[in-house]
Amino acid sequence: MNLLTIKDMPEDLMKEVIDLAVKMKKEGNRSRDDLKGKVLISLYEKPSTRTRLSFETAMTNLGGHTIVMDFKTSQISRGETMADTARVLEGYCDVISARLFKQTALEEIAKNVKIPVINALTDVEHPCQALADMQTIIEYGKEKGKLVYIGDAANNVANSLMLVAARYGMHVVLCGPEGYLPSSEYLEEAEKTGAKVEVTSDPAYAVKDADVIYTDVWVSMGDEAEKEKRLNDLKPYQVNSVLLKQAKPDAIVMHCLPAHRGEEITDEVMDGEQAAVWNQAENRMWAQEALILKLVNE
Ligand code: CP
Ligand code: NVA
Repeated sequence: MNLLTIKDMPEDLMKEVIDLAVKMKKEGNRSRDDLKGKVLISLYEKPSTRTRLSFETAMTNLGGHTIVMDFKTSQISRGETMADTARVLEGYCDVISARLFKQTALEEIAKNVKIPVINALTDVEHPCQALADMQTIIEYGKEKGKLVYIGDAANNVANSLMLVAARYGMHVVLCGPEGYLPSSEYLEEAEKTGAKVEVTSDPAYAVKDADVIYTDVWVSMGDEAEKEKRLNDLKPYQVNSVLLKQAKPDAIVMHCLPAHRGEEITDEVMDGEQAAVWNQAENRMWAQEALILKLVNE
């Protein structure tokens, strides 16, 4: 079984992974041997701090090993195909994770191997992030509440998150200017769950009575050519203390990180009491431990 998108992840498996992540964090055992002798190969076409380190620590905690390959120093940079690379990797490891520009390249890897392949972020989705995010929302007791994603609501993080939150029956609001709202494909998928899903360009309307406010960078990896336009278009969608005051008093603020302080989120919110971002970042490790266990030991 692969995890290429939340869209294609069976709902029962998704919930099992999140439940297991919550349980494993509570137990706090970081020295297990469930995956003794198992190897993860982790591929990176784009930069990463959290994803790379949380995959590595997750494998170490489970008694396995991780090997990281950066595209720049591999033969991919000299034209070896993704399909040929994937076939070679399969001989060395038990599971592959890959952070790639194109979802189609990830699908190409999955097509050519029989071992599990995990999406570590593409242009379309960031499913591992969304699993950890839902774990965090449950940890704060907000899973029955209203989640507002504000900013570039058409990006990879928004896509995965809206589907996970909708499957839990949260009231999901996607807020951004025109051109930064989710595709009809993702909206329809979220609506299919029966959850209340709203799209708006009005930040004040969006955050009213919110339990969770979520944002992400305005310029995702690969969008750099549009930087100036994006910073300008998204300016009214900053998560700052004025906006936060319009949510519920005990609302939490989430961000997948890295944050661009002063752009999508201010220092006072990032460093304030309502920020859940550090727990959220830690949960990447627990969620990926649970995910790898489920996929590899299937
Ligand atoms: N949130 C996240 O995926 O962070 P990295 O880009 O540092 O991996
Ligand atoms: N949307 C961001 C997420 C980074 C973790 C990006 O794709 O760059």
